[in-house]
Amino acid sequence: MIAANTLVKWFGAKLAVDAVSFTVAKGEVLGFLGPNGAGKSTTMRMLTGYLPPTSGTISIGGHHLEDDGLAARALVGYLPENAPVYPEMSVTGFLRFAAEARGLWGKERNLAVERVIETCFLEPIRRQTIETLSKGYRHRTCLAQCLLHDPPVLVMDEPTDGLDPNQKHEVRNLIRRMGADKAIILSTHILEEVDAVCSRAIVIDRGRLVANGTPAELRARSASAGQVRVRLQGPAAKEAAAALRALDGAAAAVVDAESAAGITLIVSPDPRDGRRPNLGPAVAALVAARHWTCDELRVEEGRLDEFFRAVTVPDTKREEKG
Ligand SMILES: Nc1ncnc2c1ncn2[C@@H]1O[C@H](COP(=O)(O)OP(=O)(O)OP(=O)(O)O)[C@@H](O)[C@H]1O
Ligand SMILES: [Mg+2]
Repeated sequence: MIAANTLVKWFGAKLAVDAVSFTVAKGEVLGFLGPNGAGKSTTMRMLTGYLPPTSGTISIGGHHLEDDGLAARALVGYLPENAPVYPEMSVTGFLRFAAEARGLWGKERNLAVERVIETCFLEPIRRQTIETLSKGYRHRTCLAQCLLHDPPVLVMDEPTDGLDPNQKHEVRNLIRRMGADKAIILSTHILEEVDAVCSRAIVIDRGRLVANGTPAELRARSASAGQVRVRLQGPAAKEAAAALRALDGAAAAVVDAESAAGITLIVSPDPRDGRRPNLGPAVAALVAARHWTCDELRVEEGRLDEFFRAVTVPDTKREEKG
């Protein structure tokens, strides 16, 4: 439903998006990750036709944005980063206005407005003027606006930003439900959100795409993925490191923590042909054979935050690293 092909955006002498390509199919919720200033919002503005790319092509539902823009844009609902709303309008008034701008009139318009008021939980504040709304309700009013024409493609720039934990939960559930029969791309800085709603994620750093995979695939590429944590008791624990290190497929075994509860060791796998062997069964077998007292044995699945830090340069360090 969304195909971005080698997108490039220059702002004067600044390269904001550098040859980014990806696709989003119906039934997918794609998470768009990257540090501040990486180019997420710029890419999303290009997808929705608000900003022309310097080069590259975009097609939405098979319609090229460049030469079939009207048809392409009709398929898209867009929740911008700083959603423009009209402060003096009531919520219902604004939604009616937005529905008419999408070509919905009369009964059809009213039905659409009622549907999104229900979907976005706006009933309690529907008659309030937008300037008197709390941040969370204002944000949800913008979210409602992008759903009015029930578009098959949604582009959402930080859809849960500024929401309280309950609202975040509701909006994530809503996105997941809608993701079943739409193509959705959403940007976020919240890595749990990727686990909670996204079927796949891409990471962009300084305008360049640096990763594309399911949350589990990205996590499995982090440094801690495949490490075995094992907690042992008794005098034998100290000698265990040498035996664990000697296991086939192990690269290292080190003591991570010592406390009254025992000694925690971390056994790291030695990657072969880019794959990390699963050391869990071998460690468990060794523990049993040596009759060690063990009360914890866990194979780490890896961490998204660790992976994110490894593939991106923080905004504050960009100048020094170039
Ligand atoms: N209209 C513009 N004119 C000039 N530079 C711009 C413009 N819009 C964005 N930029 C620059 O392009 C780069 C990418 O910005 P963008 O807003 O896409 O980042 P982002 O990934 O959305 O960041 P954030 O996580 O902070 O929202 C930044 O360096 C930004 O300053
Ligand atoms: Mg942004």
